[in-house]
Amino acid sequence: MEPRTITLHDCDFSTYISEEEIIARINILAEQINQDYAEKAPLFLAVLNGSFMFAADLMKRVAIPCEISFIRLSSYQDMQTTGHVKEVLGLKEEVQNRHVVVLEDIVDTGHTVKALLDQLNERGPASVEVATLLMKPESLQHPLHVKYVAQSIPNDFVVGYGLDYNGHGRNLRDIYKIVS
Ligand code: IMP
Ligand code: MG
Repeated sequence: MEPRTITLHDCDFSTYISEEEIIARINILAEQINQDYAEKAPLFLAVLNGSFMFAADLMKRVAIPCEISFIRLSSYQDMQTTGHVKEVLGLKEEVQNRHVVVLEDIVDTGHTVKALLDQLNERGPASVEVATLLMKPESLQHPLHVKYVAQSIPNDFVVGYGLDYNGHGRNLRDIYKIVS
């Protein structure tokens, strides 16, 4: 890949993971999912906005009976508790007794995925697993089991392929890393 530097808002980013490498990783993930869920008619829940590109490229390679739906997480200050609580929005599908696979762009601290898994597990699914494009293991603050990881990365801020910096960069075909 030709090294390139781009500017989004006030920050410079340089090429990091090419579209080709991303697709190669997604091919491997899809193959695992096709085997693991062959008889399970999984329900994929893609977390907007960041996972839209990953979800599309993964789903094109999932060759078993399945469904996909898109959800969001709201973030608001709960007066009863100290932290930010994230509520699942837009989940219309029945989750009870379903094999659910959450599709995420990136697992960083794990707060988002932890909140999502807690809420999904209250609905009595047959199983819940997470498939993420990227994961930053050094940042993880919860003992989460993330079964499907396309690529683990160090604790650097990245954009592209769905991931944004203040709303920009989601349309980039490759993943870029912040220039420090
Ligand atoms: P969490 O810390 O695991 O809850 O990550 C929450 C969210 O932060 C992710 O879903 C992303 O939207 C965002 N995020 C974390 N790291 C990055 C990054 O390097 N680039 C862009 N967004 C990120
Ligand atoms: Mg996200």
